[in-house]
Amino acid sequence: MERYNIPINVPFVHRVCFTKNVFSDENDLLSDLLTEGGGRRAIVFVEKAVTNSWKSLVLQITDYFHSYDVKLCHIEVMEGGEVIKANDSSTRKVWELIEKYKIDRHSYVLCIGGGAFLDAIGFGATTAHRGVRFVRFPTTTLSQDDSGVGVKNGINSFGKKNWIGTFSVPYAVINDFEFLKSQDPEVSRIGLIEAIKVALVKDADFFEWIEKNVIALNELRAPELEECVKRSALLHATHIADGGDSFEMGSSRPLDFGHWSAHKLEQLTNFELSHAAAVSIGMVLDTLYSERFSLLDSSKSKRIFDVLRQLRMPLYHEKLAELNDDGDLEIIAGLEDFREHLGGKLTVLLLKDIGTGIDVNELDYRLIENCIVQMQSIK
Ligand SMILES: NC(=O)c1ccc[n+]([C@@H]2O[C@H](COP(=O)([O-])OP(=O)(O)OC[C@H]3O[C@@H](n4cnc5c(N)ncnc54)[C@H](O)[C@@H]3O)[C@@H](O)[C@H]2O)c1
Ligand SMILES: [Zn+2]
Repeated sequence: MERYNIPINVPFVHRVCFTKNVFSDENDLLSDLLTEGGGRRAIVFVEKAVTNSWKSLVLQITDYFHSYDVKLCHIEVMEGGEVIKANDSSTRKVWELIEKYKIDRHSYVLCIGGGAFLDAIGFGATTAHRGVRFVRFPTTTLSQDDSGVGVKNGINSFGKKNWIGTFSVPYAVINDFEFLKSQDPEVSRIGLIEAIKVALVKDADFFEWIEKNVIALNELRAPELEECVKRSALLHATHIADGGDSFEMGSSRPLDFGHWSAHKLEQLTNFELSHAAAVSIGMVLDTLYSERFSLLDSSKSKRIFDVLRQLRMPLYHEKLAELNDDGDLEIIAGLEDFREHLGGKLTVLLLKDIGTGIDVNELDYRLIENCIVQMQSIK
């Protein structure tokens, strides 16, 4: 018998950019990026909610491409939001257009929209020809501060979040802060939850900055909002690049603090609860659990709840307390779904301090129940 363990190292560059008015004549960021890559063709997918708010966007994109070498083959405007992830019809549409317009692996698929739109279109683009170059333009706070700068694409299946998907480093991510201006203010504010999450698990100074700037953030003042989004995006992106597990081959998922119950809550509410709102509630549960499990000092959890309250994040949902036919909490099944999705051993991140997480491999169901009861009075 012979056995060879031959390492394969594939170098990737994660190009994460911040700008304003990316499609204006004076902005060379995109043309430089596409020219550098040497590709000659591009198609663009734009979420309808974005073109509804930015009426001249399609025209602006068309004009932008007139002035240089990459051929813009087509602009497709499609509905986005969580519903686009519900089945594979968007995937098929993406494949069809990539085939029709002869987009090869050196060409570009540009995608402008919220996190759900990017996930769904990205899944199509990264499976066509085993992956064409995908350029993301996130247009919501959540997609700019977290999902858009990540390396995951996917759609929901079997009633489970992101059950089908790919890991793929996008060709580039362009966070254009102007797009944030048309977002519903409440959705925009709740989208900051992933910034609070990454601060809690990675960067105590950033959490203190959020505490100090909470009034400005609550009012969505542009300078503070943009700084918050940028710091969060860079923390997420550098974790993916330097954290030693870019494609989540291991069991630990530090960026998924609060997410085991959040994903289940989204499912239990038929996705009426947004990802951001569910993460906020999931973070309250895991913060309280960390405190009750004697990992986190109560003064620290109080600071966390104060920030969430001041930013008017949701802190509880009645589906948390829903029981199944056996009289057990439905939400507990989220733990097994979470484990199954990442494979291997159950690993949940709890907090031992602000800015410092700790992995645990089991949770005490009784304690979860107690926390859920206590959460009803935190509101
Ligand atoms: N791939 C990942 O690593 C990752 C990480 C976290 C979250 N996610 C996914 O991201 C999704 C949530 O993303 P989201 O919070 O951006 O929600 P979303 O994409 O559903 O967008 C929220 C709403 O804003 C609208 N919208 C988008 N941009 C707009 C703009 N500029 N102006 C006006 N309206 C606009 C959308 O149509 C939608 O109604 C979830 O499906 C979640 O699972 C993925
Ligand atoms: Zn998330």
